[in-house]
Amino acid sequence: MLVLGIESTCDETACAIVRDGKEILSNVVSSQIDLHREYGGVVPELACRRHVDIMIPVIDQALTEAGVTLNAIDLIAVAKGPGLIGALLLGLNAAKALALAENKPFIGVSHIEAHLYAAMMCQSDAIHFPCIGVVLSGGHTTLVLIKEIGVYETIGQTVDDAIGEAFDKVAKIMDLPYPGGPEIEKLAQQGNAKKWNFKSGFVKKNPLDFSFSGLKTAVLYAVKGQPKEEKPAPTLEEKQDIAASFQYAAFQDVLQKTLLAAELKGCDTLVFGGGVTNNHFLRELFSLKAPHLLHIWPRGDLTMDNAAMIAGLGFHAFKNQEHGDDFTLAAETSLSFS
Ligand code: KG4
Ligand code: ZN
Repeated sequence: MLVLGIESTCDETACAIVRDGKEILSNVVSSQIDLHREYGGVVPELACRRHVDIMIPVIDQALTEAGVTLNAIDLIAVAKGPGLIGALLLGLNAAKALALAENKPFIGVSHIEAHLYAAMMCQSDAIHFPCIGVVLSGGHTTLVLIKEIGVYETIGQTVDDAIGEAFDKVAKIMDLPYPGGPEIEKLAQQGNAKKWNFKSGFVKKNPLDFSFSGLKTAVLYAVKGQPKEEKPAPTLEEKQDIAASFQYAAFQDVLQKTLLAAELKGCDTLVFGGGVTNNHFLRELFSLKAPHLLHIWPRGDLTMDNAAMIAGLGFHAFKNQEHGDDFTLAAETSLSFS
């Protein structure tokens, strides 16, 4: 089955063609980072305008690169949420228009679930279900029990900032460009992670929940000083130590809570998803501290937002549901798992 996937939840316009949920024939991503960088974050109005301009050329390119025509497509899949409402509506309506014009079924899937599927789609034979899913993105920090593809139980989530959001905010505090994650990782490589004793939050109600807002405030004080204190701007070396200590505190917390989740649920496989999984230090930390578990990471081109993960997951959702969605399907800004 050939699936055309569309992704437009935030600041990437993407289209991919995937066969049978696994074989990626094309995976076109048009990033808007250049557009938003001067504002230090995503400007929703600008994101929507760019999606409008670029959606059809991106779809055309994905079809050309895959060497197929629209006529050969069996299913249109689209990310129905979570994300920016205007951006979601553009992708959703593009998918509905294609489905209507070509008389094809269409289906909406969760972007968060798709981030986990991005890791599973290339290595599905290696996974032992049930396993633990770890979503580390700009909008989510979630631990889920994956019983099988499409069947999830959320067992931990952030009560305030998402981990990627914390990286982006900490980068902003240090006057680094957007997106902050890769900038912090680069700075941290030269820093001393033991210099600052930062800590992520403990959430009493559920020890598998996350809290990064206190950590972010601690970094703010380390960079700018306490309120009313006049602290000189940090040197490059000081920034490197702060970045390394922050990154260490954030990932140490992810490691400990993930290990606890695996132990509590009796799982030996971890599946990772989301843009933050690009981080090499994170991957090394897990391979060093959790060698007894199997780690399934998304391959490089599937870590950030893309449509191959949407098309791939769409294939499974359609199989399970045995039919697609109808044209009343709405965008869901705060969806996590379907
Ligand atoms: O999954 P994603 O592409 O978008 C969402 O669904 O949110 O993730 C984007 C996030 C941003 O917050 C970005 O700073 C972060 O992923 N990120 C990283 C790295 N590369 C991207 N965070 C830490 N280290 C990185 N190398
Ligand atoms: Zn994402």
